[in-house]
Amino acid sequence: MGLFTKDIKTLDDLFVHALQDIYYAEHQITKALPKMVEKATDPQLKQGFQTHLAETQNQIKRLEQVFEMHGQKPKAVDCPTIDGLIKEANQVSGDVADKQVLDAALIASAQAVEHYEITRYGTLIAWAEQLGRSDCARALQQNLDEEKATDKKLTVMAESKVNRKAA
Ligand SMILES: [Fe+2]
Ligand SMILES: [Fe+2]
Repeated sequence: MGLFTKDIKTLDDLFVHALQDIYYAEHQITKALPKMVEKATDPQLKQGFQTHLAETQNQIKRLEQVFEMHGQKPKAVDCPTIDGLIKEANQVSGDVADKQVLDAALIASAQAVEHYEITRYGTLIAWAEQLGRSDCARALQQNLDEEKATDKKLTVMAESKVNRKAA
C-alpha cells in the first residue's frame, strides 16, 4: 500500500491484498514451526507440529495456484499480525523453564496462529465467492479445513493431557 495513494480500490484489490497477506503469514509459519518441533517435549505434540509444517508447505503451493487462477503473480506483503504472534510465542516460550508448562505454552501460541489463519481464510473464501471465483474458494477451503483440524487436534492434546501435566 502506498503512503499517499490508495492502492486498494475494489473488493478484487482487497481480495488480492488479503491473499498476499496470508501468503506472507504461511511463509513465516514454515519458519516458526521447526523451532516449535524442537521445543516440544510431548512426542504427539512434536509430531503434530511436524505434520502441520508439511501441510503448511502444501498450503503455500495451493495459495500459489489461487494467485495463478486469479491471474496474479504470487507475492507477499508484510503481515504485522503474524509477526507479532510469532514474536510473542518466542518470548513466552523463552521465559518458560518447566518442560511440561512449555508444552502448554506452545499449544496456546500455536492456537493463536491457527485462529488468525481461520479468520483470514474465512474472509478470503467469502470474498472469492462474492467475486465469482468458486475455483479459488474451493482451494482456500482446503487450507481452512486443515487449519480447523489442526486447531481441534491442539485442543484435544491440551485438554486430554498437556494441561494436566503442566499443572
Ligand atoms: Fe496455514
Ligand atoms: Fe496453520
